[in-house]
Amino acid sequence: MSIRILGIESSCDETAAAVVADGREILSSVVASQIDIHRKYGGVVPELASREHVRQIVPVVREALEQARLVVSEVDAIGVTAGPGLVGSLLVGITYGKSLAESLNKPLVPVNHLEGHIHAVFLEARQARIEPSLPAVCLIVSGGHTVLYEVCAKDRENVDSLWSYRKIGQTRDDAAGEAYDKVAKLLGLGYPGGPILDRLAAAAGNAGAPVKFAATKMKGNRYDFSFSGLKTAVLYHVRENPDYRQEIQAREAAVARGDRKFDQLLPLCSQKTLGLVKEFQNAVVRDLVDRTIQAAESLGVPTILVSGGVAANRQLRAAFEDRARELALKVYFPSMELSTDNAAMIAAAAYPRLKNGVLADVTLNASASLPLA
Ligand code: KG4
Ligand code: ZN
Repeated sequence: MSIRILGIESSCDETAAAVVADGREILSSVVASQIDIHRKYGGVVPELASREHVRQIVPVVREALEQARLVVSEVDAIGVTAGPGLVGSLLVGITYGKSLAESLNKPLVPVNHLEGHIHAVFLEARQARIEPSLPAVCLIVSGGHTVLYEVCAKDRENVDSLWSYRKIGQTRDDAAGEAYDKVAKLLGLGYPGGPILDRLAAAAGNAGAPVKFAATKMKGNRYDFSFSGLKTAVLYHVRENPDYRQEIQAREAAVARGDRKFDQLLPLCSQKTLGLVKEFQNAVVRDLVDRTIQAAESLGVPTILVSGGVAANRQLRAAFEDRARELALKVYFPSMELSTDNAAMIAAAAYPRLKNGVLADVTLNASASLPLA
């Protein structure tokens, strides 16, 4: 009989619920995004996020159970994101998870959101009956995080044993997704920035770079990242070149009236802007790929996992695949759906914890900066 875990995720601006059997088979995965609510503010507004989670949590969990053809009493455990994230948002999922677990007398499993992102890669691979080998170097790259971990199975013979994590590097300022969002905003391209910049960079063809961004040099830990200098370089370049102003205003107006699709924004971008976007993306991708590959090589670890919202970036995936092929490393990504925040990854991460008795009780609280250990 399989073990079915109901996963609940509410750490940021997605209310999500999913049912996963044995940490491997996705029976359902429902995500209610709040992007439309936060878009006009150009980023996530914590108070609005909590309120929306309160509105969404019950219907989202109900939908996940319906899609899995289960009634709630048939799930074996509840896995819930305990942190890191926005405290008000986390509390909605935690409170609901706790009350479900209490009323049904089922185990409650606390999950670290970052561990969820790592499990997303395994979950995806396991759908295709592939088991990535551990130890691995894992890059988690999203709007809130840019961090490199070494991941090991505590019991090498047993993939369902708990895993241990060692942080190798992290961003010292902005997360990569945050840099995408800020650059898109200053170019008048709306929010979130990653998907539209990804497509515009791909459409740049051989548009020349109007400015060159050098690789970021890091003092101290060479596996740390920094993206705020790059974002500021884009800002100064745009400010110093008044010829960008008119097209930025035209795009801002288009986005404000709801014309924010790629086909609507592309004609409002000059070749110079496309070249700039391409150069920005080249710099981000080069930095993420170089440091991750260097970490894997120096640790002698042949497996690389890449997860989080920015892992949906097509140029990043292609660059990792090319370099990994050259160096005979294996690189794994989740599908696009499992790259961004979802609850299937939380249910999958809860499975080994449940099996190893890592449970929480009604005292479980939200932790904005829960470390991954
Ligand atoms: O993992 P996620 O859904 O939420 C966080 O935990 O932050 O990631 C969202 C982030 C946003 O910053 C968004 O701009 C970025 O991921 N993103 C992308 C792409 N799709 C989403 N960045 C670059 N290229 C993409 N295709
Ligand atoms: Zn996330």
